[in-house]
Amino acid sequence: MTQEALKKNVAEFALSYIKPGMIVGVGTGSTVRYLIEALATIKHQLEGTVASSIETENLLKIHQIPVYDLNSVNSVDIYLDGADEANAHRYLIKGRGGALLREKIIATVAKQFIGMIDESKQVDILGEKAPVPIETIPMARSYVARQLVKLKADPVYRENYKTDNGNVILDIYNLNLLNPVDMETRLKQITGVVETGIFAHRPADLLLIAKKNGVIVI
Ligand code: A5P
Repeated sequence: MTQEALKKNVAEFALSYIKPGMIVGVGTGSTVRYLIEALATIKHQLEGTVASSIETENLLKIHQIPVYDLNSVNSVDIYLDGADEANAHRYLIKGRGGALLREKIIATVAKQFIGMIDESKQVDILGEKAPVPIETIPMARSYVARQLVKLKADPVYRENYKTDNGNVILDIYNLNLLNPVDMETRLKQITGVVETGIFAHRPADLLLIAKKNGVIVI
């Protein structure tokens, strides 16, 4: 089974968590693209959605699924999103698609956060396979990078890329993630860092993992 087939399976499985009348937070990325196609089949049952990126907002609108500004809804019932890596505590690395800031805001607001991955993204220790993206104010980029080098990590500037919020991304390799909660806190304290792709303070409540013989839930 291909990775694309696994992503489609997990996105379709996730649909079973959505109940009529819900406000649904919608993540960003290739797994979410399958989710949006599935959401289109039940769009008349939804109160509406909030989008974690301009890309997602555009896709939802193409499918004529109502999209609300986060400030205009009282609550978000459920947030569904992919991830670049996940461990057994449901801590995640996110942001390869650059949408980590808005993703973390919606995940924080949402009553329930469900992560959707295929089994290739399961790791024992975060950072094994994926770098940690960090959204940074453009003028602070070099300063933030120097602070990361002091932590013995290797920051790489994502060239020719701007986030939906007008900021830049540093992809951090070789970051010590034995304690993801602590590292998330430390990175947020660097002046100029807007947000990190470590989702440990707000882990997923449920993680759906697509395997060749079906989807498991942890
Ligand atoms: C977007 O910024 C990311 O956080 C994605 O949610 C993450 O990279 C997973 O994307 P895929 O579903 O495309 O693998």
